[in-house]
Amino acid sequence: MNESQSTSGVGKSSVTVQVAMGLKQLGKRVGILDIDLCGPSIPRMLGLEEFKIHQSSSGWVPVYVDSEKRLGVMSLGFLLPDKNSSVVWRGPKKSTMIKQFLTDVHWGDIDYLIVDTPPGTSDEHLTVVENLQEYNPDGAILVTTPQMVSILDVQKELNFCKKVNLPILGVVENMSGGGGQQLASKYQVPFLGSIPIDPSLATLLDNTSSPTDSTASNITPDLSRASLFVSKYIKSPLSSNFSLIAAGLDSKLSVLS
Ligand SMILES: Nc1ncnc2c1ncn2[C@@H]1O[C@H](COP(=O)(O)OP(=O)(O)OP(=O)(O)O)[C@@H](O)[C@H]1O
Ligand SMILES: [Mg+2]
Repeated sequence: MNESQSTSGVGKSSVTVQVAMGLKQLGKRVGILDIDLCGPSIPRMLGLEEFKIHQSSSGWVPVYVDSEKRLGVMSLGFLLPDKNSSVVWRGPKKSTMIKQFLTDVHWGDIDYLIVDTPPGTSDEHLTVVENLQEYNPDGAILVTTPQMVSILDVQKELNFCKKVNLPILGVVENMSGGGGQQLASKYQVPFLGSIPIDPSLATLLDNTSSPTDSTASNITPDLSRASLFVSKYIKSPLSSNFSLIAAGLDSKLSVLS
């Protein structure tokens, strides 16, 4: 299990999606848990916005993007009435919701659970770390960009991880400027890899939305947009970067377990 966290807009959610895709391509079974309660972006990126949560006798069922059920997603977005409603929940209710996400979702037999977090180090992070404790999480992936602000935030996030005893799996430098490696060695954490800026990534992630979303509740959800994403992703130029990052993580974590 691992987690991704860091500053706003640096690419946490897109790194989450792509590391998950990379691990899936390695034949792993992966779950993505999206606990960004204010702006869940995973369903949008994967073209899953029209899905709702289904209940089975063993719990909430994740939405799978592929027929082999190698990549399942659970997101607060699936609980919202439509994609434009944003939820402003107070602390205690947020924690209850996150706890429920961690206990009531029937993930089945997965190799990795990747948690996509909101920006910063807030209540959500604390709640998820506390409630994952019993599952021995592998650690956190820090996502940063060359901008100074996220580099300063890296220090804050490293302190947070230390405080809550969460190991650091390493740093991913997104929209790379080449400084990720030095940053990682400065803070003595592993460097997982860098991702260049690629405008086609944004197109790939944003074009999954369909114009029929406003009437979503009236149409039967279908997975064609998600499977379109999966096939486009495999051909996208960045997928080789993410395959490397995923392979690195997987070999590191297989050795640990
Ligand atoms: N390597 C990249 N090249 C080009 N565009 C990118 C890259 N990485 C991310 N983006 C774009 O940057 C935007 C922000 O990315 P993303 O939503 O993943 O960030 P985030 O850290 O999850 O943000 P938030 O803190 O709001 O959750 C998205 O529109 C995404 O498509
Ligand atoms: Mg995000």
